[in-house]
Amino acid sequence: MNSVVRDLALACVTVATLAGCTTNKGRCCKMSECGKSKASVTVSPFGKTKTGLEVKQFHLVGAGGVAMDVIDYGARVVRLWTPDRDGKLADITLGFNQVSGYEDIDLYFGSTIGRFGNRIRDGKFTLDGVTYTIPCNNDPGGIPCTLHGGTSGFNDRVWDSRTLTNGDDVGVEFTMTSPDGDQGYPGKLDVKVTYWLTAKNVWRLEYEAKTDKATPVNLTNHVYFNFHGEGNGTILDHELTLFADYMTPVNAGLIPTGDLAPVKGTPFDFTSPWKIGDRVNTKDNEQIKFGGGYDHNWVLRNQSGKLAAAAALYEKTSGRYMEVWTEEPGIQFYCGNFLTDSVPSKSGGHLTFRGGLALETQHYPDSPNKSSFPSVILRPGQLYKTATEYRFSTR
Ligand code: BGC
Repeated sequence: MNSVVRDLALACVTVATLAGCTTNKGRCCKMSECGKSKASVTVSPFGKTKTGLEVKQFHLVGAGGVAMDVIDYGARVVRLWTPDRDGKLADITLGFNQVSGYEDIDLYFGSTIGRFGNRIRDGKFTLDGVTYTIPCNNDPGGIPCTLHGGTSGFNDRVWDSRTLTNGDDVGVEFTMTSPDGDQGYPGKLDVKVTYWLTAKNVWRLEYEAKTDKATPVNLTNHVYFNFHGEGNGTILDHELTLFADYMTPVNAGLIPTGDLAPVKGTPFDFTSPWKIGDRVNTKDNEQIKFGGGYDHNWVLRNQSGKLAAAAALYEKTSGRYMEVWTEEPGIQFYCGNFLTDSVPSKSGGHLTFRGGLALETQHYPDSPNKSSFPSVILRPGQLYKTATEYRFSTR
């Protein structure tokens, strides 16, 4: 067997194994030729936190061939395998093989973010006449703010969990109570995040929350993608489309000014596909300078609260293509400007500057301090409910 044929055969066996494909018998195939596969979800130990809490891992195999590992620490995705156009699987998300990686290196890899995704100015907001102080854990441009919930966000909790199956779809439901006063936020918040992996290779995230006092809520997931496979170069050649005509410009502290700026004629115009690397280093653009590249919120065209396309990402050599659909009004596109080669990769090497990108569906950063932005305030008796889908395929 020549090496190309052998590699393809091996890839196919891997696809078949992960996908639970029974008819393939190692014969070289594409996903579409694998025949009927069976979805499954299995549980195993992932390790322990530094405080001794057991962390569980869930291995989800979708009937369509995509597979993923998620853990209850941070209700996060650790690995996500998708086929390239030849059916060869790669883990396309950044993460760590041990709990300590997540505890020691605070990059939010794959995690559920809460109570409030992205930044809140000065770690303060006023709600119904009361000013609340939350911990500042970030200071871009030397300006302190709260990032992703505070010093101990939802990414830092061990969630309760149970496995789910619904026909060909498999999932995990994560639940957690954030107590009144958690990180300084008012109200006891009961949170549920459900991950589904569908037979159509869709990773669907459903979020729900209820509170007993008015509080800001903005939940998202901080998965980083690299369609070459994690630890395998940069994302600068990935082609991105964002279904957004405006973005929310920021100051030097990466806090929105409150304006909505048209993207037309700027490096922020992704209304048609652009390679990320083409304009990421534009010299004379203040917004690019503040972000150290792309690290901004786009105002999605769809403001209806119904599921609609928000973004598309394509990488030519692998053929991997993904659409992001969401009910949220915004999306943070962050191109890994704070990643360095000091961060180990799961496959034994190391990451690199811009070695992954995040597309975080959300309400706009600093909304609790911006009355003109869509409201993020959840009140007693209301149900916070939102969904986002990452849809994987090849082209
Ligand atoms: C933010 C970045 C931040 C990163 C942390 C992103 O959502 O926009 O500024 O550095 O999260 O990993």
